[in-house]
Amino acid sequence: MKNFDLKFNSKAIHAGSKPCPATGAHIGPIYLTSTFVMENVEHAIRVSQGEEEGYSYGRYGNPTETELGEKMAVLENGEKGIATASGMAAITTTLMTFLKSGDHLIAGDVTYGCTYGFMRDILTKYGIEVTFVDTSDLEQIKGAIKPNTKVVYIETPCNPVLRLADIKGSAEIAHNNGASLIVDSTFATPYLQNPLDLGADVVVHSATKYLGGHGDIVGGIVVGSKETIAEIRDPHLKFFGGIISPNDAWLIIRGLKTLGLRMKTHCENAQLVAEYLEDHPMVEKVYYPGLPSHPQHELAKKQMRGFGGMMSFDVKGGFEGGKTVMNNVKLISLATSLGSIDSLIQHSPSMSHFTMSKEEREKVGIMDGQVRLSVGVEEAENIIADLDNALIEVKKVIG
Ligand SMILES: Cc1ncc(COP(=O)(O)O)c(C=O)c1O
Repeated sequence: MKNFDLKFNSKAIHAGSKPCPATGAHIGPIYLTSTFVMENVEHAIRVSQGEEEGYSYGRYGNPTETELGEKMAVLENGEKGIATASGMAAITTTLMTFLKSGDHLIAGDVTYGCTYGFMRDILTKYGIEVTFVDTSDLEQIKGAIKPNTKVVYIETPCNPVLRLADIKGSAEIAHNNGASLIVDSTFATPYLQNPLDLGADVVVHSATKYLGGHGDIVGGIVVGSKETIAEIRDPHLKFFGGIISPNDAWLIIRGLKTLGLRMKTHCENAQLVAEYLEDHPMVEKVYYPGLPSHPQHELAKKQMRGFGGMMSFDVKGGFEGGKTVMNNVKLISLATSLGSIDSLIQHSPSMSHFTMSKEEREKVGIMDGQVRLSVGVEEAENIIADLDNALIEVKKVIG
């Protein structure tokens, strides 16, 4: 019997997924139920006290959520996974599990706007100290360590300026100081990087993006050790109530089966688009890890298996220039979010990063004219033609 060494696409399709045990239906069902019928009171006691595996109530877990958690655990080389109602539910529930009043958190000074706002406004309200540093610089992480540091949190590549953090180096610093490393790997997905293999303790995702992949759901994922995920699920997720709905879990399971196919095209298209933009006279700067001009191109080659579908760029003429591009694209939609099969463009300062003040944004290079582009899987030449037409308008406006 041949030993199967399952590769990415095979795992994405098969891991965690099996035919319906009751009917043999090829594709597992969506378990639309809020509660589960117990055999008797003894059974109810065993399940609710954790002596026996099983389901008792939808907010604690559901078989469709289990299938998604198992698939993601396999894709991330983790022991267990959990699926949440949004990426933010995954992030906030994980941080509330790891931190308590009096603890210290080190996080990137560029992270998704709501993550940044949660740390700056909510965690501090509960007596958790937060230090934001440039996590692309290991010395800054090291320099921020305090005796009460419990978590180092990095987003890599980060939203929206595509800065990378060295996952292995960050894990070493965290672990040498008794802290844990949490990585938001939303932009990379498990197709391009596996933070747990590089020493991270937990990986979180907004499944709303590439994992779902079709722009039709909101969801989140956390993967880590069996013990960590058990602690996140019960009591934290159970009390905060951020479990995913079975419908959304099922759509993410379906999306994951083609993650590898989609990511390959996202990466190929984004490389062509980034090279086109970098050469364009109306574009000042392109932020894309696949370009040799990206300051961490070498790190990207080392820690990722490709460069992804996300980029930002500064258009000549500042806000007027950026606005003209966003208002003149036709195939690409002006919408926040990312990672969908169709290309999306947005103004980071007023959309995804609006929770940061202008001062906070400019300090880290999120300038008013900056445009973020999620390159879809349409034909690259059509995406480029759409941008080309919009950039002609910039020339008319700013001369
Ligand atoms: C990098 C990153 N992490 C987390 C989130 C939050 O995810 P969600 O919108 O699914 O709550 C986002 C959303 O844009 C994101 O870009």
